[in-house]
Amino acid sequence: MSNYHIKHLEEYYQVYRKSIREPENFWEEVAEEHFMWQKKWEKVLSWDFTKPEVKWFEGAQLNITENCIDRHLATRGNKTAILFEPNDPNEEAQHITYKELSERVNKFANVLKNQGIGKGDRVCIYLPMIPELAISVLACARIGAIHSVVFAGFSSTALSTRINDSECKMVITSDGSFRGAKTIDLKGIVDEALKDTPCVQTVLVAKRIDSIIHMESDRDKWLQPLLDDASSDCKAEVMNAEDPLFILYTSGSTGMPKGMVHTTGGYMVYTAYTFKNVFQYREDDIYWCTADIGWITGHSYIVYGPLANGATTVMFEGVPSYPDFGRFWEIVEKHKINQFYTAPTAIRALAKQGSELVEKYDLSSLKTLGSVGEPINEEAWHWYNDNIGKKKSPIVDTWWQTETGGIMITPIPFVTPTKPTYATLPFIGIQPALMDENGQEIRGNQVDGRLCIKFPWPSMARTIWGNHQRYRDTYFSAFENKYFTGDGALRDEVGYYRITGRVDDVIIVSGHNLGTAPIEDAVNEHPAVAESAIVGFPHDVKGNALYGYVILKDTGESRDHNNLRKEINQIITEHIGPIAKLDKIQFTQGLPKTRSGKIMRRILRKIACNDTTNLGDTSTLLNPEVVQSIIDGTKNSN
Ligand code: PRX
Repeated sequence: MSNYHIKHLEEYYQVYRKSIREPENFWEEVAEEHFMWQKKWEKVLSWDFTKPEVKWFEGAQLNITENCIDRHLATRGNKTAILFEPNDPNEEAQHITYKELSERVNKFANVLKNQGIGKGDRVCIYLPMIPELAISVLACARIGAIHSVVFAGFSSTALSTRINDSECKMVITSDGSFRGAKTIDLKGIVDEALKDTPCVQTVLVAKRIDSIIHMESDRDKWLQPLLDDASSDCKAEVMNAEDPLFILYTSGSTGMPKGMVHTTGGYMVYTAYTFKNVFQYREDDIYWCTADIGWITGHSYIVYGPLANGATTVMFEGVPSYPDFGRFWEIVEKHKINQFYTAPTAIRALAKQGSELVEKYDLSSLKTLGSVGEPINEEAWHWYNDNIGKKKSPIVDTWWQTETGGIMITPIPFVTPTKPTYATLPFIGIQPALMDENGQEIRGNQVDGRLCIKFPWPSMARTIWGNHQRYRDTYFSAFENKYFTGDGALRDEVGYYRITGRVDDVIIVSGHNLGTAPIEDAVNEHPAVAESAIVGFPHDVKGNALYGYVILKDTGESRDHNNLRKEINQIITEHIGPIAKLDKIQFTQGLPKTRSGKIMRRILRKIACNDTTNLGDTSTLLNPEVVQSIIDGTKNSN
């Protein structure tokens, strides 16, 4: 087990140094000792960040599901692989063993094949957090189909954009979903989305809420009867290490989301290795990540990373507030959770409720706590540490991205001393660099800059689906020979990193990555809107909330601003989803612009944060007079 499981700080430094000095030897050893390959690689790594092109374990053949399922059957067949906790606490939890998972994945894989899906075909999965979601992901991987999971909170327009971009042949969905006290008509959303998706031939529908839904003949099929008829034996497709495993969309600086493409071998090795170390997972532990599989956190640390380690991974269908705000803690007690991984926005929302609901439950099983998705503020960190971890379970503040595939900067629990709000040290194999505005690397400690990564790691995304140029422009053009993350960071006196937030036009709201451009595009769809600009401002639960500055078309008519606000948010809900709704909308006559016509968001951000003392030099603006009128207008924002 050399190098696979790090147990103390000295060992971390030793292994880290090795992973930097001899990255190829290091990853080769990890890959060789801990995974099942049908054929070994010819070359561990080839890379060129100028193209950019990165290949790990080239020439190797494998199937990730053999690593996540088959190889555990002999020793862990009766161990729970997926522990499903339903939305309704009165509905029984399901313990799906590795053996059962194997049967269900194989059957599902055969259904996909019988429906004409083969290697390389794209399959869109739009499901709530029910076992079928994890199973359909694995079934795609089994036959080499590329899954594209779309978070089931996205709207029909967002869904159809994603389906069309990667030309999915099939959509897997359910009749509906439970979300707290509500039910959601998922199939209705799919029907709407599929009005304009010529690539989709088949829709498989899982039954979850037993509602009466429309089934389009020839296109829509109930899943269960097909599963009943399918064989539970499905040979794993032979995949090359660099064959795509999945596409996952993330927001960008234009209206079109970026379909990040992750490949098979490197992704498997890195997510499994990080899972083992970052959560210090031991054989009989019960691990729970509260994310949705619709996000990268769920892909890497609910499905692939845990299962590749033969772990028990919990899938929770519901929300933290149902039936009350004690639900997370009730689940921790009920299933004796050992590792708990959640987002700062959830911690802040739960902290707001006080500690009474926490104290009702026995949380003594917890060993490690995790945080992901956005910077965790000091207050939330302490609340989590004091009330949930009882000051004895280390918090791993894990920094990473959809694009990075796996955790990049993080403490290792019981190894790295933690520091509130710091993601601390780079994980094994990760070489961060802080860059100044002139493109120079800033060396030494007690410095801050733009966060880049200088050397490839196995789980990095390889391209943007259908648009390699955009991949290059977005991540590899800002700084020569480096991957640019889009985040700012500081490095303290001992070399710990603290992520300070995005330095581009992406805003993290409740841990969700939202590009300003797609939201502005949606707002501008309103017939009364001439132009808009969206910025973020601090929010005590969501981390950031959205502030929209909107210029109305001059029609000579007066309009009811409150109605307009509702209509604008309705359009955003339809185009993107409710997560992108604006908290405040200010109608204004103009927006501050540079002489080249670019909106000066820096000024708008400051005004939205009510920080107008130092707006910098506004005299070079095309329209400096507009700034004061916007400041005066803030009192009318709502
Ligand atoms: O800004 C960083 C923030 O989330 C961004 C990535 O978002 P996404 O691709 O949706 O992936 C989220 C889950 C991995 C990053 O560029 N972010 C993520 N984790 C942290 C964070 N910011 C600060 N601290 C973190 N631990």
